Amino acid sequence: MTVAPPKILLQLRVNGTDMACAAHPNKTLLEVLREDLGLTGTKHGCEMGHCGACTVLLDGRPVLSCLALAVEAQGHEIRTVEGLAHGPHLHPLQQTFAETGAAQCGYCTPGFLMTAAALLETTRTPSEADIRQAIAGNLCRCTGYTKIVEAIALAAERMREQAEHV
Ligand code: FES
Ligand code: FES
Repeated sequence: MTVAPPKILLQLRVNGTDMACAAHPNKTLLEVLREDLGLTGTKHGCEMGHCGACTVLLDGRPVLSCLALAVEAQGHEIRTVEGLAHGPHLHPLQQTFAETGAAQCGYCTPGFLMTAAALLETTRTPSEADIRQAIAGNLCRCTGYTKIVEAIALAAERMREQAEHV
């Protein structure tokens, strides 16, 4: 019989807020976000690094939270889909995914949103090839990807327009 290692105090910064919980040190970031911090927006898919449903941002870069240990995420800025909207205002990506039908069952959507958010934070005018390359690690069984690519391109366009009017 294997004995679970004792719990440790984890201190994580998630969506700009310091959070703490007691958890086993071998838990993944995905497990701690969902089970210990109650942030269930990040989805539990293959748990093997194949589907991208669990994608979150770590210091602005997409990571597969099923393959990252929570203990190693301490000291980094974690961003999940719960942190994408600004108060009552949806992120442009959330808006365009809803408008274009890029979310059907929606299970893959948080992962796509976080991957796309990272892309649009570094690339203001992504080409279709840039978008397809960025989302290559995210799988969707429903949409055929075309509407997802459209939604990301439309969000990029709106974010450029917004930036021009600031
Ligand atoms: S659940 Fe992490 S890649 Fe599938
Ligand atoms: S919308 Fe169903 S898996 Fe992508």
